[in-house]
Amino acid sequence: MSLDSELQNVKDYFDKTLKTHGATPRGVDWNSEEAREVRFEQLSKVITVDQPFTMLDYGCGYAAYADYLESQHFDFSRYIGFDILESMIEKAREIHSDSKRFIFTSDLSKLEPADYATACGVFNMKLDASYDEWTDYVVKCLKEMDSLSVKGFSVNFLTKYSDADKMRPDLYYADPCYLFDFCKTNFSKNVALLHDYHVYDFTLIIRKD
Ligand SMILES: C[S@@+](CC[C@H](N)C(=O)[O-])C[C@H]1O[C@@H](n2cnc3c(N)ncnc32)[C@H](O)[C@@H]1O
Repeated sequence: MSLDSELQNVKDYFDKTLKTHGATPRGVDWNSEEAREVRFEQLSKVITVDQPFTMLDYGCGYAAYADYLESQHFDFSRYIGFDILESMIEKAREIHSDSKRFIFTSDLSKLEPADYATACGVFNMKLDASYDEWTDYVVKCLKEMDSLSVKGFSVNFLTKYSDADKMRPDLYYADPCYLFDFCKTNFSKNVALLHDYHVYDFTLIIRKD
């Protein structure tokens, strides 16, 4: 199966979760708000500035991360939400229609670099793609995130150190050491691997300033 058809399957999957559950954690396939907030908290560690910053949310869903940032008093001057799924972008626009600070698009070519980029839960669902194919795809997306962020970027993955009896064939369990090494070798000397927050995933923080 080609990458295009695999990505079409991912889009169909998230289109269905959104139609079934609406703009809720389940609508973007998280079990609960708490489960997602744990991840948002880790990803936000990339932000080190006090002054307003611009944020690219890569795979934004309906942009719940914007609400999290506001709830934690992070002062973003511009929030750019990118998602491959147009129905997610429409939902994000509907929810965040009141502010000129928001831009949403499903067209990667329209994006310009932001201070920070982040991706939450974007690579977890691989469906029928093989492990190696999905790793190649993840690496391609990390390169995009690198080129679209000035000060740094953060990203999370399910971990290959999950309990074997709970692992599912449709999910992608990344190798933290491989991706840490890739980021350190290709993007920045300053890379943090956070794998100590009690859920079955890990976060990479790539600092460039
Ligand atoms: C698990 S949801 C998470 C949404 C949001 N980040 C959150 O945590 O609430 C994954 C989202 O990533 C999107 N997505 C998957 N692969 C993508 C890609 N390569 N580029 C952009 N968006 C992608 C999906 O359409 C879906 O909306």
